[in-house]
Amino acid sequence: MNERLEVRPGGRLAGTVAVPGDKSVSHRAVMLGALADGVTEVSGCLMGEDVVSTMDAFRAMGVAVDVHAAGRLSVHGVGVDGLRTPGAPLDLGNSGTSMRLLAGILAGAGVGATLTGDASLSRRPMKRVAEPLGRMGAVIETAPGGTPPLVVAGGHPLSAIDYALPVASAQVKSAVLLAGLFAAGTTRVSEPAPTRDHTERMLGAFGVEVDYGGGRAAIRGGQRLAAAEIVVPADISSAAFFLVGASITPDSALHLPGIGVNPTRTGILEILAAMGADIRRGAERRCGDEPVADLEVRAAPLRGITIPPHTVPLAIDEFPAVFVAAACAEGTTVLRGAEELRHKESDRIAVMADGLAALGIACETFADGIAITGGRLRGGRVDAHGDHRIAMAFAMAALRADGPVVIDNAAAIATSFPEFTARAAATGLGIVA
Ligand code: S3P
Repeated sequence: MNERLEVRPGGRLAGTVAVPGDKSVSHRAVMLGALADGVTEVSGCLMGEDVVSTMDAFRAMGVAVDVHAAGRLSVHGVGVDGLRTPGAPLDLGNSGTSMRLLAGILAGAGVGATLTGDASLSRRPMKRVAEPLGRMGAVIETAPGGTPPLVVAGGHPLSAIDYALPVASAQVKSAVLLAGLFAAGTTRVSEPAPTRDHTERMLGAFGVEVDYGGGRAAIRGGQRLAAAEIVVPADISSAAFFLVGASITPDSALHLPGIGVNPTRTGILEILAAMGADIRRGAERRCGDEPVADLEVRAAPLRGITIPPHTVPLAIDEFPAVFVAAACAEGTTVLRGAEELRHKESDRIAVMADGLAALGIACETFADGIAITGGRLRGGRVDAHGDHRIAMAFAMAALRADGPVVIDNAAAIATSFPEFTARAAATGLGIVA
C-alpha cells in the first residue's frame, strides 16, 4: 500500500463490492481458537495487518495458525493452559484490539510478556485495561503516561471482580471478560452504554457460558473452550465508506452482500438513515452467532442532523465516514459525547477537522465532538496521520470534490482493508494507480 493515495474528482459508484471480514470478529476467532481444545476452522477471516499481528502473537506463544486460501484458517488451539511464554516482545503493530484483549488473556493465563506497537499504538491509553486487570490480581506496567509498552508479569493468579467500565469500550470489556475466564469466581462487567458484543457471542460458540445483555456481562472462571467453526461476516465498518460514497454521489447504486448487522454495530445505518440516506437491508440471515444482511445503497440528498447520543458507541469506528457525509449534506451535523474519538488510531476529531478544512469545509471542534456544515468540497491535500479510516473516508470525499484529493500517510489502509483501493477503483472511484 502506498503512503500517498491520490483520487481523481467526480465519478459515481456502481456494482457490487465484496467487503472483507469483520476485524473485531476476526481477532476474536484467532484468540478464542488459540485458547480452545482442538482445531478451530475460520472462514471469511480478515487478512489485514491488524489480524496478522494477532496471529503472529499467538504463533510466538506456540499456537500454529495455518492460512489456507484467502480468509480460511485452521487455528490449532493449545487450551487455556497451553500458551508458552514468548521469547521476545510481542509487536502488535497498529492494533489496539490485539493489545488490549491480549493483555486480558496473558494476565489470566499467567503468561509474562511485553506488548509493543507502532507510533500510533504507542500513544494510546492502556491504563484502562491495566487498572481493572490489576484489581483482579494481575501485575501490569505501562510507560509513565499509561501508554505502551505493556509489561505483563507471569504467574499471578486472578480473582473475579465486579467492574463498572468508566468508558463505553468493548476492548476493555473484552479484556476483563477474557481475564475472567481464568479467574477464581464470577467476573461481572457493566458498561455505561452497550458496546459491541462479539466476545460474548463468540465465547458462546466455543461452549463457554456467558450471561449478557443490556450493557452487562458475567463469566464464570475455570471454563474450557471447545474448538468451533467460525464464519466471519463482512465488516460493516469497511462497508461504511462505500455506504457514504454511494450516498453522496448522484446516480450511484451499490450492492454489498453479507454485511454483519449485529445491533451493537449498526449505528452507522441509523445515522445515515436520519440524514436521509437510501439504504435497504435484504436477505437477513445468520452467520454463526452474528446476524448478516445484504445492503443496497442509492444516492440520496443528505441533511445535517444532531447525532443521537446512543448511536455513538454503536458507530464508534464510522465517524470519519459520517463526517464526510456531513460535509456533503445540507445544513449542520453536530456530534457530541464522542471524546473517545480522540483516542483512536489518530485523534479523529482533530485530524478530520484539519482534512475537511483543507478541502474547504469549515468545522467547529469541541473536546467531545464536532459541528460540520455541509458545503462545496474542493480538491486538496490531506494528512491521514497513519489512520486507515481517515484515509478511506477522504478517498470517498473525492467523489464530490472539484479537484483531486491527495491523501498522505495512507498506508495503514492495509490494517483493515488491504483490497480497498482495488475494490473502490472497480466500482468507480478514481484511484490514481
Ligand atoms: C473494538 C472496539 C472499539 C473499536 C475498535 C475495535 C473491538 O474500540 O473502536 O476498532 O474489536 O473490540 P473501543 O472498545 O475501545 O471503543
